[in-house]
Amino acid sequence: MHIIKKLCLLLTCCYISGTSFSQQKPVTGMQTLIDSALHRAVKQYTFMSANMPPGVLPKTYYWGTRKFETSPTSWWTSGFYPGSLHYLYEYSHDHSLQDEAARVEKLLEKEQFNKGTHDLGFMMYCSFGNANRLHPSKEYEEILMNSARSLSTRFNPVTGCIRSWDHGKWKFPVIIDNMMNLELLFWATKYSGDSSFYRIAVTHANTTMKNHFRKDHSSYHVVDYDPATGKVISKTTHQGYADESAWARGQAWGLYGYTVMYRCTKNKNYLTLANGIAQFIMNHPNLPADKIPYWDYNTPDIPATYRDASAAAITASALLELSKYTDAKSSSQYIHFAEQVLRSLSTPTYTAPPGENGGFILKHSTGHLPGNSEIDVPLTYADYYYIEALMRYKAMRK
Ligand code: GLY
Repeated sequence: MHIIKKLCLLLTCCYISGTSFSQQKPVTGMQTLIDSALHRAVKQYTFMSANMPPGVLPKTYYWGTRKFETSPTSWWTSGFYPGSLHYLYEYSHDHSLQDEAARVEKLLEKEQFNKGTHDLGFMMYCSFGNANRLHPSKEYEEILMNSARSLSTRFNPVTGCIRSWDHGKWKFPVIIDNMMNLELLFWATKYSGDSSFYRIAVTHANTTMKNHFRKDHSSYHVVDYDPATGKVISKTTHQGYADESAWARGQAWGLYGYTVMYRCTKNKNYLTLANGIAQFIMNHPNLPADKIPYWDYNTPDIPATYRDASAAAITASALLELSKYTDAKSSSQYIHFAEQVLRSLSTPTYTAPPGENGGFILKHSTGHLPGNSEIDVPLTYADYYYIEALMRYKAMRK
């Protein structure tokens, strides 16, 4: 690593590590914190929408070069910006946010026929799923049904999984992230009465539960299958530090995914797994005091390495939901942990000043460190799950 880059990293790490709870300004209470965080989020996304180039979606922002990076609608993160706008409209009733969501969803809607990605749950359910939740319409329902049909074409009954990627060295790769795309399928069965979507989701989750998880409830990132026999070929990583390490966001996807599985099926095996993943995350010896994980729990450069605010936000949102399904002791542990995460993310260490950061709310996420991409940057999904967690907390405390 270049010496200047190394120095900058060291300074950032010292800055983040130095911000312990006792040093943070005391917050009067969670409700105040939640409302002021959501209020700030509305302002940031209003700022971002005013500066959005036409025909594209936001992806990230680079502080150093002040470069706002966008993506086409086919990129896996395209549902998060409209999804965040829906949540923020729900909070503020500011119609300009809803109009902006509708504008970008016009661009996004063609992806309902995209059969080349497993990310349709992220792309279409975070956007149109939220749109339909707030303003049910036949048009949204048709888009969501077509998206579920497209996603289902990637299911292989021999492997018992939905295929993740079409690129790379693998024969039939399945990544832990794919658990996040199943909620769309449950919606499709509920809406249409066609149980095939439900069966695909359950089969995928069962296969993943069997092959992706280790004894300590951490998970591998990529499991490669032989599509002819269904046998596991390899268990590796792509975005984590090592094949046997625990990539932080992967653990958060697993936690969120199996919490949704329990909600949608009431199968206790999913609840047990979600609780196990929660314990792995919350008790990890490498988890910093502010509860924002490093990008991988096992990277040997801890503490001189990058955090992943997105993993923390996903975890907080998932734990708030999981707290509703568990005994009183676990439930209060989960809520307390989520509160700690939300408090940390809402400090100036992680929350950008208004009008900065390209309009993104959070700083310090890590997209793909081994690929040298999106390191220590804002990311649309960090913001989306942060906003979702704030909204969940607010709803639970009413
Ligand atoms: N699904 C890709 C990621 O989490 O980076």
